[in-house]
Amino acid sequence: MSGRVSKYEAVAATLLERLTEMTRHEALPTERDLMVEFGVSRNTVRQAIAVLVASGLVYNVQGSGTYVADPDVVSKTPRLTSFTEDMRERGLAPASRVLSCELAPATPVVARRLDLPEGAQLIRLIRLRLADRHPMALETVQLREDLVAIERLDPAGSIYEQLRRAGHDVQKATQTIAAINLPVEQAKLLDQAVGAAALRVVRIGFSGRGVPVEWAETIYRGDRYDFDMAVTREPA
Ligand code: GLP
Repeated sequence: MSGRVSKYEAVAATLLERLTEMTRHEALPTERDLMVEFGVSRNTVRQAIAVLVASGLVYNVQGSGTYVADPDVVSKTPRLTSFTEDMRERGLAPASRVLSCELAPATPVVARRLDLPEGAQLIRLIRLRLADRHPMALETVQLREDLVAIERLDPAGSIYEQLRRAGHDVQKATQTIAAINLPVEQAKLLDQAVGAAALRVVRIGFSGRGVPVEWAETIYRGDRYDFDMAVTREPA
């Protein structure tokens, strides 16, 4: 899949990662800065920004710039589960269609999140995740290669189960959940109309020893997925 990614999609993907570290209404770098940083044309930068605008993650102010949108999300603490466990709990049969599984250098944002030097090799696994044989989510998982060897990984199986067996059970995670509208490629894979609502979840998973193990982006179909969570009030 990565071979077919166009320049503007690659720029949009990098900016998307960066957004998780930015605050609401913070300005993105100027078009010119982005052109220099990515070595692309103004048109490519504009196309990339347009993808993010269409997803509702950023907004443009005429003559001023592009800013991080305010999704007005209320953060709660859902229970930590793998996709496999999550689907089984919902009475659905989980499965995966592997789109790609390769070694790739960590981008600066992912490297920082995983406490690794920039450019460190990661396993990048892209899968269409199915529930009762129908697309439920599109998932990109990036795993530390020093924790699980790519030759030993079963890309179609449960990653959390394999990490657990390798002694790196994911026990804690930080999660950012945002509403998006699906761009063309993702809509096609998820069997949805272009622009359909979806939930984008970025998770950094940590082992019990606090070692960051995975960076994962899961894009769930808005018509098939919701978040259930128990919430408690702090004593006054
Ligand atoms: C969920 C999480 C991902 C995690 C995945 C593991 O989708 N959002 O961060 O990588 O579960 O699922 P499985 O063990 O089924 O591969």
